[in-house]
Amino acid sequence: MMIKQLVMATNNANKLREAREILAPLGIEVLSQREAGANCDPEENGATFAENALIKAKAVYEAVTLPTIADDSGLCVDAMDGRPGVHSARYAPEGQHCAKLLEEMQDVPEDKRGAAFRCTIAYIDENGHHIMSGDCKGAIGYEQRGTNGFGYDPVFMVGDRTMAELTAEEKNKISHRGAALRELYHFLKERYGE
Ligand code: IMP
Repeated sequence: MMIKQLVMATNNANKLREAREILAPLGIEVLSQREAGANCDPEENGATFAENALIKAKAVYEAVTLPTIADDSGLCVDAMDGRPGVHSARYAPEGQHCAKLLEEMQDVPEDKRGAAFRCTIAYIDENGHHIMSGDCKGAIGYEQRGTNGFGYDPVFMVGDRTMAELTAEEKNKISHRGAALRELYHFLKERYGE
């Protein structure tokens, strides 16, 4: 039997909307952490996206005992040996992430500017946990462009546009989080499908 409800260990409206859209065909109601009555914010001190996603998912699952997902994501830049990676949110003070990255990349030539957004989702229910991941490959540009999205989107190039120049629909089709959520969709269908 397909699960009826799923708690997402976040209160981020964008993440919730994306998960709701992708899981809707399975008839699953996605609740935010707040809607599920869980009030936890564990320290994300893991060394990998998977460890951090599991830390968040476990904390919420223990509070609500409903099937739970948590995601952890970040930007991995080739020329920076994969940094900022799990430290993406803490790489710079609020609002200065893109500027700091452009400065750190200022002497890196065109063919070495490759980067990838990575997202890992941890799913937990009474049968145990499962980890899913998605990637979105691109390159770091030379200036900030576009006003959509968030975080590093204005400097992340996909083709000749930045992620911040894509509509939400265009971004969801190619995003790391979209890819991981689609993997979750297939996992749930396989485990609980009719
Ligand atoms: P978290 O997974 O919500 O902890 O996000 C980690 C950090 O990675 C965010 O604060 C952003 O800086 C960055 N990040 C993750 N996903 C994206 C994205 O889709 N666009 C731009 N930045 C992102």
